[in-house]
Amino acid sequence: MKILAINGSPRKNGNTATLLNKALEGATSKGAETELINLYDLHYRGCISCFSCKRINGKSYGKCTVNDDLIPVLKKVETADAIILGSPLYFGRETGLMSSCLERLLFQYLVYDSEYSSLFGKKISTGYIYTMNVNEEQAKISGYYTHINANKLFLAKMLGSSETLLAYDTYQFNDYSKYVCTAFSEQHKAEVKATQFPLDCKKAFDMGVRFAKVK
Ligand SMILES: Cc1cc2nc3c(=O)[nH]c(=O)nc-3n(C[C@H](O)[C@H](O)[C@H](O)COP(=O)(O)O)c2cc1C
Repeated sequence: MKILAINGSPRKNGNTATLLNKALEGATSKGAETELINLYDLHYRGCISCFSCKRINGKSYGKCTVNDDLIPVLKKVETADAIILGSPLYFGRETGLMSSCLERLLFQYLVYDSEYSSLFGKKISTGYIYTMNVNEEQAKISGYYTHINANKLFLAKMLGSSETLLAYDTYQFNDYSKYVCTAFSEQHKAEVKATQFPLDCKKAFDMGVRFAKVK
């Protein structure tokens, strides 16, 4: 059982990475082999619409051929039994590098037939952990769920059953006193960090446990 986590945050010790590591801890506790990939260590771009993955009788049918650092990641997804993605929300969406990764990962498998079927060839569990500054109510008002739910549907359709974990009201700065930030109260953020974030970590751990048990 191989579980791959993909971190779409530039911060290797931030909220997103912490939750992904917790998920992998959960998976390891059930004997899974795990790996965490930091997208910000890699140099790659999004889908360039070359359609090599869609050419009739093409030798790279169903495979992305853009030759850059993302190819080994796409190959690892092929042999994984579950994947867990993680990204902070940047302007209501995942980060640019996670978005580019998803374009390349999913488009290669998408068949333009009447069912929009998938060439992935198997079904795996997929999880997507999002972290964000706003609280649940603000996320709702800001329409964040439209994008999050669309990602869930695309992942489920192309790769396999998909679940989402949302961590709200995260602690952003190491030292709030150093930054212009009147929108958020450091005291409130510290409270959420001490009370809610550990619960989110537990949810991530449990996701890892669940995914490791699936096969
Ligand atoms: C460029 C940028 C844009 C952001 N946009 C949003 C946003 O639209 N909504 C939100 O709730 N938080 C936003 N945030 C805050 C992050 O999503 C939040 O701090 C997140 O938990 C950071 O994750 P990390 O610790 O893994 O880096 C933004 C942060 C940055 C740096």
